[in-house]
Amino acid sequence: MSEAKRQQLIGKAEQTHRLTEAELAALLADDGADDAMAEAADRVRRAYVGDEVHLRGLIEFSSYCRQNCLYCGLRRDNGNVQRYRLTQEEIVALAEKAKAAGYPTVVMQSGEDAWFTAERLAEIVRDVKRLGLTVTLSVGERTTDEYRILREAGADRFLLRIETTDRKIYERLDPGMSYENRLRCLSDLKRLSYEVGTGCLIGLPGQTTEMLARDILFFQSIDADMVGIGPLVPNGDTPLGNEPPGDMRLVRRMVSAIRLLLPEANIPATTAMETLQPGARELMLRSGANVMMPNVTEGEARQKYALYPGKACVADTPDHCRACMEGRIRAMGRTVGQGAGGRRRSKISIL
Ligand code: 5AD
Ligand code: SF4
Ligand code: FES
Repeated sequence: MSEAKRQQLIGKAEQTHRLTEAELAALLADDGADDAMAEAADRVRRAYVGDEVHLRGLIEFSSYCRQNCLYCGLRRDNGNVQRYRLTQEEIVALAEKAKAAGYPTVVMQSGEDAWFTAERLAEIVRDVKRLGLTVTLSVGERTTDEYRILREAGADRFLLRIETTDRKIYERLDPGMSYENRLRCLSDLKRLSYEVGTGCLIGLPGQTTEMLARDILFFQSIDADMVGIGPLVPNGDTPLGNEPPGDMRLVRRMVSAIRLLLPEANIPATTAMETLQPGARELMLRSGANVMMPNVTEGEARQKYALYPGKACVADTPDHCRACMEGRIRAMGRTVGQGAGGRRRSKISIL
């Protein structure tokens, strides 16, 4: 792309927060656009969500999963992963530690584990809410009623990545799952007034920049409150074990493009990014991101929750990561978020 065209598209995105699919795809395909996109996204990030970096304590409470996603180490056919399930007491104890560490929000994440019925999860949510924490769930697809029960128990937010908006790739990589049901889940969550997070994987076989452009327009169309993305990290225990890893420069352009088009969204610098490229979390925080999700899971569970190999920080302790992240945030001239760090809505409607 010519320098003039690049500047024109980035300028349009920064001013209007709108691009067509073709414009977005052209920027995402443009290897020379990384820095200029990141600089524009960093300005938009500062203007809309400020310099705070919000920390969410991540509790990985069960590695059982009934699904069989081709990329994921927790897929049910993977016999090489150790399964564990924390007890209600253990989960609440981790939430207490998260609170003591100063994290206002916990993200309770698991595979799709049917043992945790909505009723069982609701009890845990009620316990954690009593601690005064904001609760984000990331437990996969559930029925409308289950989402309602969990919302009524006090869950505030829900993360469910669409993974890809290309229906064919979705249904090939997530066998037995339907794209329609994924959309139904996201629309239920919105209707139940959760803050909703979604996102995609980058580097899936067959995925194009046009598809990634459509992913971003989809995030915009559902008014996503949070958008978490990451590169595919090939896992040798899965059918995608021999795929190349996701392109980190493309991941960075995606982070920047998401900030340009969803200026108010909470966008994490994710562990998968750091796993492929040490230092990537800071790079992404300078390229549009404003959230990090330090893992507060302790002991053996921390190793066993193996979506992909080489996960950053598995060998570290929660306390170590807490101090490490705070230091890195300060060193960047940013501040650790105070308060729940929910979706902001600007007074001026931009969309
Ligand atoms: N590489 C990167 N991300 C992965 N996830 C699952 N497996 C992998 C992998 N091999 C992501 C999915 C899921 C999130 C919890 O982890 O996008 O939504
Ligand atoms: Fe299960 Fe989620 Fe992994 Fe799919 S991505 S196998 S649903 S844990
Ligand atoms: Fe885990 Fe730095 S954040 S060691």
